[in-house]
Amino acid sequence: MEKKFILITGSTDGIGYQTAIDLAKSGNHVIVHGRNQEKAELAMRKIEEVTNSYNLSYAYADLGSSSQIKEMVSDLYKRFDKLDVLINNAGIIRPERTVNQEGLEETFAINYIAPFLLTNLLLDLLKKGTSSRIVNVVSRVQSNQLNTEDLQLEKEYTAVKAYAKSKTALIMFTYLLAQKFRNQDITVNCLHPGVINTKLLRAAFGAGGASLAEGSKTLVFAAIAPELEKVTGKYFVNNRSVSSKEITYDIEVQKTLWKKTEEILGLAKTL
Ligand SMILES: NC(=O)c1ccc[n+]([C@@H]2O[C@H](COP(=O)([O-])OP(=O)(O)OC[C@H]3O[C@@H](n4cnc5c(N)ncnc54)[C@H](OP(=O)(O)O)[C@@H]3O)[C@@H](O)[C@H]2O)c1
Repeated sequence: MEKKFILITGSTDGIGYQTAIDLAKSGNHVIVHGRNQEKAELAMRKIEEVTNSYNLSYAYADLGSSSQIKEMVSDLYKRFDKLDVLINNAGIIRPERTVNQEGLEETFAINYIAPFLLTNLLLDLLKKGTSSRIVNVVSRVQSNQLNTEDLQLEKEYTAVKAYAKSKTALIMFTYLLAQKFRNQDITVNCLHPGVINTKLLRAAFGAGGASLAEGSKTLVFAAIAPELEKVTGKYFVNNRSVSSKEITYDIEVQKTLWKKTEEILGLAKTL
């Protein structure tokens, strides 16, 4: 299989870290992303040791900072001629409502705003890749409704509500982006990795969960499985395309969300 250039956000720990190992082992060039230089470089060195692969690079940005995301992207454009796969994996769940320096509720910022911004900024690099793929790691924890007037849960915050809302928004972004790219050589899909024993799961729901190897399985599938080359706009669980919550298919809500996101980020019309 041809070597692919793959950026995985949040690959210093958990499912992203394991996915970086698996994709490096199968001969791809993996760009390990972490919140800062020290963490990203350390994780890359550990992955080098485990895999004996020297096809590794690292990149860093705190995904809660749009200026750091922009700096990382500009660095990536300088260092790479193309990107074949972007895996938006990094994610958090917060017990209490916290707001970042840009005034955004943090779960919403990391789980949804960051992938939206990063993906849009990397599109020109992805367009230079071969049959490029955008893979968004979401969750089976989804909302039944998406109130676009209260995206940041100013009124009735709970950890699970905020997490579900952010993942529901990311699924909607996946579907609308896939639709916008339907005539181009870029696919956009999302997936639930399973209930996996990571620090995110332990923080939110206590112990339990399957192994990291189980968790990385669907990410690897979505990123490189040859049979998915032309498959786009899907939600995968356990390597199977299944339906997400009904609200995620509402095109009017998808469009409103997109517009609101551009407003939040102060972007001109993106696509
Ligand atoms: N575990 C599950 O059962 C489960 C189920 C469904 C979906 N998911 C999704 O799977 C993805 C991976 O989660 P995980 O369970 O592997 O969690 P994890 O072990 O906590 O790993 C999360 C990764 O994201 C990074 N990250 C978090 N905030 C960041 C920020 N502000 N800037 C840069 N990087 C940041 C973390 O870096 P640090 O280590 O520096 O914090 C870490 O590398 C998430 O999107 C999660 O929602 C997980």
